[in-house]
This record gives sequence, C-alpha cells and structure tokens, in this order.
Amino acid sequence: MWKASDKLMATIKHYASFPATGVSLRQMVQFGETPSPGTLFRASQFLSEELPIRLAHRVQELNDLPDGLNDMPSIKKVRDWYAQSFEEIIDVPKPSLSQEVKSLLARPMKSNGHSKTLSKTTWNPSVKEGQYRSSPPSMSINGNRHIEEQVGMTNGGTKARLAAARRYFVPSEDHVDWPPEIDDFNQRFSQTLQQIKRRHDGVVTTVAQGILEYKRKRQRLQIDSNIQAFLDRFYMSRIGIRMLIGQHIALTEQTHAHHPNYVGIICTKTNIQEVAMEAIENARFVCEDHYGLFEAPKIQLICKPDLDFMYVPGHLSHMLFETLKNSLRAVVERHGAEKEDFPVTKVIVAEGREDITIKISDEGGGIPRSSIPLVWTYMYTTVDQTPNLDPDFDKSDFKAPMAGFGYGLPISRLYARYFGGDLKLISMEGYGTDVYLHLNRLSSSSEPLH
Ligand SMILES: Nc1ncnc2c1ncn2[C@@H]1O[C@H](COP(=O)(O)OP(=O)(O)OP(=O)(O)O)[C@@H](O)[C@H]1O
Ligand SMILES: [Mg+2]
Repeated sequence: MWKASDKLMATIKHYASFPATGVSLRQMVQFGETPSPGTLFRASQFLSEELPIRLAHRVQELNDLPDGLNDMPSIKKVRDWYAQSFEEIIDVPKPSLSQEVKSLLARPMKSNGHSKTLSKTTWNPSVKEGQYRSSPPSMSINGNRHIEEQVGMTNGGTKARLAAARRYFVPSEDHVDWPPEIDDFNQRFSQTLQQIKRRHDGVVTTVAQGILEYKRKRQRLQIDSNIQAFLDRFYMSRIGIRMLIGQHIALTEQTHAHHPNYVGIICTKTNIQEVAMEAIENARFVCEDHYGLFEAPKIQLICKPDLDFMYVPGHLSHMLFETLKNSLRAVVERHGAEKEDFPVTKVIVAEGREDITIKISDEGGGIPRSSIPLVWTYMYTTVDQTPNLDPDFDKSDFKAPMAGFGYGLPISRLYARYFGGDLKLISMEGYGTDVYLHLNRLSSSSEPLH
C-alpha cells in the first residue's frame, strides 16, 4: 500500500502555505476549441503548480480535523489519495527545452498587434467582499513578469514568485512547429491527470463513510458547524479541482473538437430547455422505478426554447436532477403512491441580466420551518434507512437512488455557488416548496475558494 514519506509531507506543508488561485468560467473558455500545443503547455505549467497547492491544503485539513475525525479509517484513506496525487503531479518529469522554444513560450501571441492575455477576474456582485480567500482582486493576472522563470518550470521558488505571476491561459503562437517534447509532456501530464481523476471518483462517498464512522464511534447524532464548514470547503475545493482537471484533459484530447459550442467540458451555448427536459425525464424515471409507479407526477417546464448561456451542462443537470428528485419524492409521499393524479411540479426559467433563475415549485407539503437549516447539512435526510454507501455511487450520477444520503441539496448548492450562483429554498409547510436556482451569467467571477 502507498504511504506518504516524511519528506513528501514536508513538501506538502510547504505548498499548503500558498493560497489557491481562482479561475473564472470566462478564463476557462478563452482557450478556444483547439488550443495550440504551446498554449496547452502553459496551462499544464499553471496546473502543475496550482493543483499541488490545492491538494496540499486538503491533505493538511484532513490531517487536522478535530475531535478524532482525522483518525477515522475512511478519512485517512482519502487523505492518502490526496497526498499520492500530489506526489504524482510534482513528479511528472519536466521536458528540457531549447532557449529558442523557451522564448517562444514566453512570448504571448499577438493578435492585431496587441498581445492577447487572460481577461481579469472580477468580483461577483452577489458575493460579499472577503467571503472567500482566493484571488484577491488586486492580484495582477495580466502582469508579464516572471515569465522566464515559469517557462523554466523550476520546482519550489519563493512565495512571491508563485503568488504574483501565476497564469492559466497564455496563448502561444499557432503557427509554430512545436518540438515533440512539448506534445509529449502535454500527453503525459494529461494521462497523470486522468489517473488522478479516477482515483478521486469515490471521494464524496468515502468521506461520507468517514463521517458515519465518526458518528458511530463518538455517539454523535448531528455534525457540528465546524465539520459542516469543513465539508463545504472540502467539497467545493473538489468541484474546483475536478473542473480544472476535467477541462484540461478534454482540451488535450480535444474530444469536443467536432462540436463548435464546446471548449473542454464547457458549453458556450448550454440550452436550458434541453438540459431541463433531460433532467425531468431522468428524475421521473427514477421516481417511477423507486415507488413502482406507472407514471411519475408530472413536471411542467416554462422556458424560452432558445435560451442558452455559457455553463457546464453536467453541473446544471446535476442540480436540476437533485432538486427535481426531492420535489417528486415530496409530492408522492404527501399524496400517497396510490393517487391517480398528482399536483404538477412547475419549473420556471427566468432570464435576467445578471442571473438566469430557475424556480422549482412543488406541492409536496413543504418543510417545517425549524428543519430548513438542517436541509443544508450533510447527511440530513428524512429517509429512514440510508441506502448502503456504495463507493461507485458518484461515478454514475444518473443512477443515483431516489433519496437517502442527505447530500443532494448541500452539494447542489456548492455547484451553483462554484460559478457564482446560489441555491435557495423557501417552503410553505402544509403546502409545498419553492427552490430557486440562481445561475450567474456574467461568468467572469473567480472560483469561490477558501
Ligand atoms: N421539495 C422538497 N419538499 C419537501 N422536503 C424536501 C424537499 N427537498 C428536500 N426536502 C427535505 O430535505 C431533506 C434533504 O434533502 P437532500 O436532497 O439534501 O437529501 P435527500 O433527498 O434526503 O438524500 P439525497 O442525498 O439522496 O438527495 C430531504 O430528506 C427532505 O426531508
Ligand atoms: Mg435529495
């Protein structure tokens, strides 16, 4: 079995002293459909510093969990996954490049005489200043300093160097014959990322398992606000890491090269009606299956057919699927599975300048006001028997069971917040629930990292 050496733990500690750098959705799409090998190489350089920083924070945090939670076998297992992935990234052999190639890489591509650089991240007007620690607005992402050093890809270095000039998207010349070392490195880096992504597939369920171990050992019924805050940070960070990794693998493979609206896993024209219709179909299918219904309660979708925006369709379908499953469950359980026709759940999509908001209104009887704060805590569920935690569970989001983990709402809210949106819930006990899913359209705000 893999075990972290003392030397590795010291390196992890060093990396954990740097803050994470947030990237915005807009910055992620600047790569365009087919980035040049040089551009990909620069992105790999950014990631080979940024990912270890993010992973190192998680290792430290898992190590320092309070109240004996850090000693739970599943928590230790997850910590080792993070440490191992950290090691794999910093160990990817760096190519030795000629001076000529280095200076080519260092020269940002000129378009119309101006050098194209990464657009700035901006503050999301809906996020309070200082709420997150990533990417202070004063940090210059456009600064051109330290490029030479970055191209040299020296390991380590001073804090100032790392913090000041980290860059994600730096376009390089298209019409250059990049040496094979560049492409080799890109391929190797992407393979390492794939391996890491697979390793971490089961993180959500394994951490959940760790919390269960802790609850049992310590005889705790609910998790306290410290652990809740840790889980929010931890899962949010996971969404960010997987976004960067998934995006980079897709860009390297150019799997969507045939699809004009895709940049990596981001769809620049995500059609809301299409995604919502599919989520409705999936949720109804799971509901019919679970309750043995001939026909699940109906869901009415009110949405402009041509409404689209820049987003990750997988995130949007996840959030809709989770909230719709909750509504269908509430409707069936309130009215009884024998009922012939259930009240219709409405999905209304509104288009604003700042946000696209989706309201999901059901007549499932609502939630008592005193339970509202609980619905956002992990592992809060009103299902009596939590289904077995299957480590393969979150590999296939769409074969998820009807309910029972108490993860649906808190994780969906993290997905919404990740790109500057939010998820809110207002209930009328005795009647039904309205869930508001706000999706930010400005797309230039940085990831909300702690
Ligand atoms: N639309 C709704 N109407 C009534 N109660 C709801 C609604 N949505 C959520 N709830 C309550 O909030 C609880 C938590 O919801 P959440 O989706 O986080 O977990 P879950 O549905 O129990 O399990 P899973 O993680 O599988 O989704 C539910 O168990 C249910 O009691
Ligand atoms: Mg749910």
